[in-house]
Amino acid sequence: MGQLKSKIAGVGYYLPETVIKNSDLELLMDTSDAWIQERTGIQERRYGKAHEETTTTMGAKAAEIAIQRAGINKEDIDFIIFATLSPDYFFPGCGVLLQRELKINSKEAPALDIRNQCSGFIYGLSIADQFIKSGQYKNILLVGSEMHSMGLDFSSRGRNVTVIFGDGAGAVVIQPTDSDGILNTVLHSDGTYAEELAFINPGCHGGYHIGKESFGYTDQNYGGIFLTEKMWKEQMIFPNMNGPLVFKTAVVKFQEVILEGLQKAGLKADDIDLLIPHQANLRISQFIQQKLNLRDDQVWNNIQKYGNTTAATIPIALGEAWEAGKIKEGDLICMAAFGSGFTWGSVLLRW
Ligand code: UT7
Repeated sequence: MGQLKSKIAGVGYYLPETVIKNSDLELLMDTSDAWIQERTGIQERRYGKAHEETTTTMGAKAAEIAIQRAGINKEDIDFIIFATLSPDYFFPGCGVLLQRELKINSKEAPALDIRNQCSGFIYGLSIADQFIKSGQYKNILLVGSEMHSMGLDFSSRGRNVTVIFGDGAGAVVIQPTDSDGILNTVLHSDGTYAEELAFINPGCHGGYHIGKESFGYTDQNYGGIFLTEKMWKEQMIFPNMNGPLVFKTAVVKFQEVILEGLQKAGLKADDIDLLIPHQANLRISQFIQQKLNLRDDQVWNNIQKYGNTTAATIPIALGEAWEAGKIKEGDLICMAAFGSGFTWGSVLLRW
C-alpha cells in the first residue's frame, strides 16, 4: 500500500435565518448600500439569534450534516479541530463545547482549537491532513464557525469592519483515501502587521506591543487588568482593520500561495476546476481571478449573500458548490485564504 492520503469525505454548512441587508445597516451607522456594494460586493449577510445561537451551536449544525454526508456516525469522530475568531468563551475553546453539543464526549476524543482567523479552515485542513497521513486518526471533524454579530461595533466608527462580516458555520469530515485526495497544503504567516487587523481588547497584553498609555494602563499594575477603564469608556473593545493595507497585501499573497501549491504539484492555474477563495471582498476575488486568468465558472463567490464569515467561509462555499454539482469526482479544487495575523495558505486537492 502506498503512502496514506486524506480526503474530504463530507461537507456541511449552516447559515442562520436572519438576513441583514445593507439597508438595515444604513439605519444603524453612516453607511450606504451603494458604498458597501461598490467596495465589497456584499448585498446582505446573516446574523445568528443572540442568546440562542452561538459559534458552537452553529458549528454543531454544520458538523451534523458533514458527518451524515461522510456516511459515518458522530461517535466515529476521533479528533475535533475547531477554527474561529469569535469563540463562545475566551477559554475553554469551542472544540470541547462542540463535543458536548454533539453529545460525543463519552469517547473522550481530543479537541483542538485554532486561532488563525480567515485562514483558520486552511490551517485546520493542513493539520488534519498530517494526522490522517500519520495514521493516527481516521475520522477528523474540522469546523469553522463565527458568530461575529455579537462582537461588532454598530456605531459609525466601526463601519469599515462591521459591514463586511456575517455569521455562519461550515464543517468537513476528513478521512484516509487510496486515491489522490489532498495533494498539498501551503501555510504562511508574518506577524509584522499583527495589529492591523485585530481584536485586541480585552486581553492580557498589558500594553506591551503598542504602549501601555494607549490602553490606559498605569505604572505598577500587577494584574487583574484585563479591561481598563479607558478601554471601556472609549469603546476600544471591537475589531479594527487597516483595510487598504490588508487589501494590498491580500491580493499579492493570495496569488503567491495558490501558485506555490500548484507548482509543488506540477500543475498550473489553468488546471484548476474550481478555485474557492476566502470571501473577504469580491474585488479581491476578482483581482485574483484576473491575475490567474481563470474563467467565471472556475471561481466560486458567495460573499454577495453572506459577507465575510472568516473561518466558516471556505467550508460554506465548498458545501454550496458541492450541492450545486460544481464539484465532481476527480476535479482539481484549490482553496486559499488570507487574513489577520497576517496568516495565509492554500490547499490543493483532487475530489
Ligand atoms: O477577511 C480578512 C481580510 N480582510 C480583507 O481582506 C479586507 C480588505 N480590505 C477591504 O476589503 C477594504 O479595504 C474595505 C472594504 C475594508 C474598505 O474599502 P476601501 O476602498 O479600502 O476604503 P477605505 O478604508 O480606504 O475608506 C475610504 C472611505 C473613507 O472615507 P474618507 O476618509 O475617504 O472620507 C472611509 O471612512 O470610505 C469610508 N468608509 C465607509 N463609508 C461608508 C469606510 N467604511 C465605510 C462604510 N460606509 N461602511
